[in-house]
Amino acid sequence: MSTQQDTGPGRDGLFRTKTIEQSIRDTEEPEHALKKSLSAWDLIVFGVGVIIGTGIFVLTGKVAKENAGPATALAFVAAGIVCALAALCYAEFASTVPVAGSAYTFAYASIGELPAWIIGWDLVLEFALGTAVVAVGWSGYVRSLMDNADWHLANALEGPDVPGGTFDILAFLLVLVLTAILVVGMKLSANITAVVVAIKVTVVMIVIIAGLFFIVGDNYSPFIPDAVTPEGGLGWEDAPMLQLIFGYEATNFGVMGIFTAASVVFFAFIGFDVVATAAEETKRPQRDMPRGILGSLLICTVLYVAVALVVTGMQHYTELSVSAPLADAFKATGHPWYAGAISFGAAVGLTTVCLILLLGQTRVFFAMSRDGLLPRFFSITHPKFKTPYRPTILLGVVIAIIAGFTSINELATLVNIGTLFAFVVVAIGVMVLRRTRPDLHRAFRTPWVPVVPILSIAASVWLMLNLPGETWARFAAWMIVGIIVYFLYGRSHSRLGRMGANAEY
Ligand code: ALA
Repeated sequence: MSTQQDTGPGRDGLFRTKTIEQSIRDTEEPEHALKKSLSAWDLIVFGVGVIIGTGIFVLTGKVAKENAGPATALAFVAAGIVCALAALCYAEFASTVPVAGSAYTFAYASIGELPAWIIGWDLVLEFALGTAVVAVGWSGYVRSLMDNADWHLANALEGPDVPGGTFDILAFLLVLVLTAILVVGMKLSANITAVVVAIKVTVVMIVIIAGLFFIVGDNYSPFIPDAVTPEGGLGWEDAPMLQLIFGYEATNFGVMGIFTAASVVFFAFIGFDVVATAAEETKRPQRDMPRGILGSLLICTVLYVAVALVVTGMQHYTELSVSAPLADAFKATGHPWYAGAISFGAAVGLTTVCLILLLGQTRVFFAMSRDGLLPRFFSITHPKFKTPYRPTILLGVVIAIIAGFTSINELATLVNIGTLFAFVVVAIGVMVLRRTRPDLHRAFRTPWVPVVPILSIAASVWLMLNLPGETWARFAAWMIVGIIVYFLYGRSHSRLGRMGANAEY
């Protein structure tokens, strides 16, 4: 396609924007439409279903032991504040641009096509690798339950995180089964989600309430352990970017350790942004999206802080387990029955996290394809189930393979940096759209613009800077590949570019 045509009146081709009206109209074309069936309550269940997962069940123990001690509770508060600021921006966008695709759609309507592509590509990374991380975490809990029953998988099928393991068969199969559920339809998966979320929240409440009785005050001392330099120092791969930039000696614990911990447990909050990806399937998005996003985030923050305080109170942080800390803290205090129930609930709960991340992933892909930035073949919905079955199947299989062969640790930080980057773009988008389209009806308005979006950007960048240098390098590599794909395919196939930017179609 000629690039002449790409350029809309007064706008450079790379920054051509799709109007809000175009975005909404696109969803009304019958063969590209998704079913509108979700209420605010469905969204909260959906949000809690994806937010509580590997972050609280697995990463809490790791960061308490290695980075923050009992002050891990403060790390959850810090990460929660970053997410709340981003949520206030997400909620405005989601209630203004109620179409599938989350930050991608928002960026397309406000900043322009290239930034939108970048964010969409970034979200593919977040959701695909996030799904893989959670599938691997799920597999660990299921194997621990199987061990209780004295069933054992062949070592090679336990996955790369286990010595001698190669291929995580359980994680692989989980992703394939969930893919099939998503192809059959949204309503079915929402019903399954509701039951599983109830089990998961019950288990978290058991940890908090039962655990309260086993807290030993001495475990909280010191609450913020003194900063220590790890033996042999930290290499550039592991040292936080902030420390690399300013060249000071990398340490664990201390006040800076709380921020390092926050940049890791941030993973525990990922998911509220996924609620925004379901805007197009919501009955009254203008009212219900903000309720769904902010409601689920608030519930999870309160639960996380409580869990972190209880667990570090039950066991000294130096003794916490890094694979199943919540269950193992009960074992350590002589209550294996609780440990079994918690492991079971965690395994069940992680299933929905995987399911919803996978769903968010396919919806972003669907939206990008509907806009022509990815082949339009993927945006035809199933004639009977009304689901975007083509990207669901393609991505499901790819993610299943990644989950089978990849180690959990490296993936989690990469997911975090990608998500934080998306937060930055959304906050910029809120400010841009207020200027370019002040006339639009906003069911929810971010308070104190531009102060809140600017604070959101600063807070997200701060957490990004606390992530390791190697994570930054990998993220940069992924984004460079994305930009190449855009210039080789998306730019010339863009539906907006073919019609002329800001033109009616
Ligand atoms: N927030 C989700 C989890 O902790 C992704 O697993």
